[in-house]
Amino acid sequence: MHESTSPLLSIEGMGKIFTVGKQSIHAVQDVSLNIHRGEIVGIVGESGSGKTTLGRCVLRLTEPTQGSIQFDGINLTHLEGIPLRHMRRRMQMIFQDPYASLNPRMTVENIIAEPLNIHQIGTATERHERVSALLKEVDLPPDSGARYPHEFSGGQRQRIGIARALAIKPDLIVADEPVSALDVSIQAQVVNLLKDLQERYHLTMLFISHDLNVVNFLCDRVVVMYLGRVMESGPAQSISNRPTHPYTQALLSANPHLGSVKRQRIALSGDLPSPAHPPSGCVFRTRCPFAKARCSEEIPQLRQVGEAGEQQVACHFFEQL
Ligand SMILES: Nc1ncnc2c1ncn2[C@@H]1O[C@H](COP(=O)(O)OP(=O)(O)OP(=O)(O)O)[C@@H](O)[C@H]1O
Ligand SMILES: [Mg+2]
Repeated sequence: MHESTSPLLSIEGMGKIFTVGKQSIHAVQDVSLNIHRGEIVGIVGESGSGKTTLGRCVLRLTEPTQGSIQFDGINLTHLEGIPLRHMRRRMQMIFQDPYASLNPRMTVENIIAEPLNIHQIGTATERHERVSALLKEVDLPPDSGARYPHEFSGGQRQRIGIARALAIKPDLIVADEPVSALDVSIQAQVVNLLKDLQERYHLTMLFISHDLNVVNFLCDRVVVMYLGRVMESGPAQSISNRPTHPYTQALLSANPHLGSVKRQRIALSGDLPSPAHPPSGCVFRTRCPFAKARCSEEIPQLRQVGEAGEQQVACHFFEQL
């Protein structure tokens, strides 16, 4: 449905190697993805799979060491100074920890208005009105503006973070595990709020999570990462109905209550290998129950699943599983 329009965000062959002492940490390797306007794309994977690094590279909070990022047709990869600031004004981030990411000494009004102040948008009265409207959008009490973050629950704090991210009407929101620190019952409320807001404002979002079920519920498309690489990607519906990569199947097996399709259960054994020494060939092979000799010799490229559709899998043997 998006073929006729160019993507808002286009990441091509992105890689990030952190150099720590003598070690090279391969945090992200050869990741390509597109996000169209009004789309929520989910990035999912275990801890250490490179999700945050990818999100930070998009905002240029981390410098990628490979590849390119196009945002609304402009190459962001090497943008500096004022042009970079202008582009940043069009993107916002929602963070995992609503306790650490809100300044405890600022009132909620000042926290939400901060991006408006930084970018000098509107008069004082207009900013105040905008904050009142935003409090309503995220279902916080109208008198919240004069209060401080410690007076709010975790879920309410995350609503404050969401209101702040929406303040300047960004074109793109990068949400890094925005519900992971919350109780399960509160998680659902905040995820539903994001879904409502997305529908109301046609938001475009990169949504990072380690929970494939949350991602399948909220996102239009899903990218499954493991040790810095994309294992599988496609429409959320296809991924939940037909998880094809053994790693995606393992992620879904960990939450058996979701997904209607009967599938074999795959338990992940062993730890994530060190990103300083990723396995040769397929990075997942050391934990894959189906690994064969070829898996250590050759990096699997993403290949289309089935005749039509957009689901892609990086596995030499997925047809035979
Ligand atoms: N600034 C840094 N310096 C060195 N290594 C880093 C840095 N940031 C991240 N890494 C490493 O890069 C890899 C990917 O980290 P990243 O935080 O992107 O993973 P993640 O998928 O977001 O994990 P989590 O689910 O725990 O948030 C990890 O091995 C991590 O230790
Ligand atoms: Mg992270």
